[in-house]
Amino acid sequence: MKDRLPVQEQVDLQAFNSLHVAATARYFLELRESELIEDALSWARERNLDTLFLGGGSNLVFAGDFPGLVVHMAIRGRHWEQIEGDAATLVLGAGENWHEAVLYATRSGYRGIENLALIPGTAGAAPVQNIGAYGVELCDTLVSVTAFDRESGQWLCLSRDQCGFGYRDSLFKRNAGRYVITEIRLRLSRRKPLQLGYRDLEEYLASLPGRDPDALMVAEAVMAIRRRKLPDPQQIPNAGSFFKNPVISDADYEQLKERHPDMPAYPQPHGVKVAAAWLIDQCGWKGHRDQRVGVHNRQALVLINHAGGSGREILELAARIRESVRKRFGVILEMEPGVVGGAGLPPIA
Ligand code: EPU
Repeated sequence: MKDRLPVQEQVDLQAFNSLHVAATARYFLELRESELIEDALSWARERNLDTLFLGGGSNLVFAGDFPGLVVHMAIRGRHWEQIEGDAATLVLGAGENWHEAVLYATRSGYRGIENLALIPGTAGAAPVQNIGAYGVELCDTLVSVTAFDRESGQWLCLSRDQCGFGYRDSLFKRNAGRYVITEIRLRLSRRKPLQLGYRDLEEYLASLPGRDPDALMVAEAVMAIRRRKLPDPQQIPNAGSFFKNPVISDADYEQLKERHPDMPAYPQPHGVKVAAAWLIDQCGWKGHRDQRVGVHNRQALVLINHAGGSGREILELAARIRESVRKRFGVILEMEPGVVGGAGLPPIA
């Protein structure tokens, strides 16, 4: 079986995580065909090893080495299905680069994911945290996810409703490690209304001369805004937003608002979402630097690895940030990326 599965040993994972922290996989497999997933799982089971399925590595922190089998999801492929009038379904293999898929769809004249340009990572990882930006979330266009359920040993085609999406949340995130996503389907349309309401995007487009924006202009605007505010992981290793924007109760919000009338807040069906970046910024963390890790100087929500920092150093900094926000505002921040190879943030005392 090992011949059929080109398993490598002691592979450095630095190039496979966007925080660029050092970690070693005891075994490593580049997986290009979904048919081999069950073989890979049996290979690991026979050796009593855990298996970690890895996409672009842009939303996780390696707290240490991984003593089992790391499977890098490299299943490629994109095609259109059910082209009916203005609408069509884009089918993406889990290993497709997300941003390239956005450009491909947008340049083909289809709308729906243009606001999600330049989000790092793969198509297969996109449903896990229900990626979102500039007023759009993946679940707005996703119709189904093909996945292998490691618990039941069954292949599933999960509809959007079955995926249980929420803000940076899904069935896949709540059951980390259980489902191996191999393919996603997005329903796009040539006539879908553009989502231009997010403040940064609205201001940027208003600053451009002339005509009504089309989807490509929106994607380009999003790219320009992201490049201005967020570090490029190729140059400054990071994992995007490190914390979720917390949703607090109406009563807690009213109390906080009295003391901080300028605090950005977004009403939700239950409670109020407040800007984690603002809370962190107010505690003086923006641009903070420890020896090797720090906080981005243009977006306080993004932790960065300046120079060979470890996952533990990143997590220690995150714990200090979380504690200072808790002390000052009484709000408990929740980490957005997953943690593998060791413990995550310590429990709140
Ligand atoms: N703000 C500060 N200080 C900062 C940064 C922002 O006070 O250092 C304030 C801003 O002025 C604004 C508010 O915080 O009033 C929100 O900031 P922003 O619009 O930049 O968005 P965000 O809530 O910090 C979220 C997503 C991003 C996404 C942007 C744009 C989360 C956790 N993050 O950030 O997603 O790109 O909105 O839609 O929801 C990611 O998930 O990795 C990510 C980058």
